[in-house]
Amino acid sequence: MKPVVMVLNGPNLNLLGKRQPEIYGHETLDDVRADLQALAGELGVQVRFHQSNREYELIDWIHEARETCAAIIINPAAFTHTSVAILDALNTFEGPVLEVHISNVHKREAFRHHSYVSLRADGVIAGFGTQGYALALRRAARLATPA
Ligand code: DQA
Repeated sequence: MKPVVMVLNGPNLNLLGKRQPEIYGHETLDDVRADLQALAGELGVQVRFHQSNREYELIDWIHEARETCAAIIINPAAFTHTSVAILDALNTFEGPVLEVHISNVHKREAFRHHSYVSLRADGVIAGFGTQGYALALRRAARLATPA
């Protein structure tokens, strides 16, 4: 069985490609999903990919990952800056957690500079556009399949 990497996306990312393309680019979330599925084949892992605008759904998927996944990649979107509940859920997961932001949050408004999720994340990628997901998947695959 190939290791499974859970890839989670928070609120408003369903509008990727349409939403503020000057900040988030023109690629859609379906494009990101397709890129990751193709890359996963090369890396010898499986990707389980979800998006929700609801905090509890993201938490439920993190709980599911506890039993079934080798790593979590998460772009919590605005919940990054507000959600102790997502941090608490991630703290129940024992494998690697990688945090992704499409934009460079540190170059933006001050309220985006703090991340609850970073208190748990083993690595953070910000400002690499949607390419950040593929970089995170390479890292997750490395961590999930030690040489
Ligand atoms: C984001 C950055 C967050 O501050 C914002 O709320 C998002 C997307 C990013 O990918 O750059 O929705 O996580």
